[in-house]
Amino acid sequence: MENPHLGVGFFMTQGFKSNCCKTMRKNNRTRSGLTSDTESPTNPWDTYWKGTRQSSTYKEGETESHVLTRQWREGFEGLEYQAVRMLDIASGYGIVAQMATSAFGDRPHEITCIDISEAALDAIKGKIPSVKTQACDASKLPFEDSSFNLITSQFGIEYAGEKAFLEACRVLEPEGTLMVIAHLAGGGIHKECEANYAAIKQFRESQFIDRSLDLLETKMKRGSPQEDIDLAFECAKPSIKTTADLIKKYGRGIAGGTLDKIFTDVARISRNSQNYDPKEVLGWLDLMRIELEAYSGRMESMCRAAIDDCQAAKLESALSGSGIQLKRFVKLPFADSGENCAWLILGKKVA
Ligand SMILES: C[S@@+](CC[C@H](N)C(=O)[O-])C[C@H]1O[C@@H](n2cnc3c(N)ncnc32)[C@H](O)[C@@H]1O
Repeated sequence: MENPHLGVGFFMTQGFKSNCCKTMRKNNRTRSGLTSDTESPTNPWDTYWKGTRQSSTYKEGETESHVLTRQWREGFEGLEYQAVRMLDIASGYGIVAQMATSAFGDRPHEITCIDISEAALDAIKGKIPSVKTQACDASKLPFEDSSFNLITSQFGIEYAGEKAFLEACRVLEPEGTLMVIAHLAGGGIHKECEANYAAIKQFRESQFIDRSLDLLETKMKRGSPQEDIDLAFECAKPSIKTTADLIKKYGRGIAGGTLDKIFTDVARISRNSQNYDPKEVLGWLDLMRIELEAYSGRMESMCRAAIDDCQAAKLESALSGSGIQLKRFVKLPFADSGENCAWLILGKKVA
């Protein structure tokens, strides 16, 4: 099963279907890269969270990992505050807030979720209306000092760097609790992200989408001479070979199965090109280009965010310097018997 923290859910739903262009953005093809000028490449998370709302592959209510779910459950149950004032940082789709809501039950609580993506926060509001939301960067929290007695984050705060941890300490009140699960450099999730990122980079460099667009456009154009079609196919051949080799090397599931999906759909359309509407096909390939760009951006940011041993030591000392008494700063596996994937950081602010 795909790891939800790689954010591949949307891709699994985006194979080519006839008439799919009716729900697509306007055709806005650029041939120079994977980006489009109408879809901002600057917030790949927003693109992801918009898509995830349409996807059924994102599990509701808890993480896909029993180990992580257990940590949260035990953490929430162990809290001794009469009323919990919780801030969840980089909440995404609100999985931690959801687990907290069910763990707290009738105990008085107020949960605030922040994220850089408005789309993610809209989704949380739809699911848990009682939660307060605020779109902001985790390194600049718009809250007064000591505003919360519980700060949580799962695979999120580290995206905004050490400054975000210091901000978390600032808005945490004395005796407040810090509970963080963060990406581990060299861990299972990090390695998957690196492989996805590398595969997409090579796919992009192969110009498979551009060459496919040329080939399909030529084939679908009424009255195209056979020699034009042959030429377009000759031009597409190197990118077809590179993509086939990539899928063989990394496996069909690489990048959430997207490369394989694009490859097989293009082959199918090319074989029966007369049965397809050119506008729909070209629009779909443009959409794939945009989605791949956003996906690649997410993979890159996850790789950058992951914390290695050296950064962990530095972070440990920064947290202590900000008044956090650490109870645990350890590596966690995704599954009971699996390889490590995360850091668990648990601490309390000294009174
Ligand atoms: C891997 S997702 C994790 C989401 C959620 N915590 C979960 O466990 O499912 C990372 C989240 O961090 C958010 N994010 C990335 N950079 C951020 C920043 N600088 N400030 C706030 N949120 C950020 C993204 O929008 C995304 O929702």
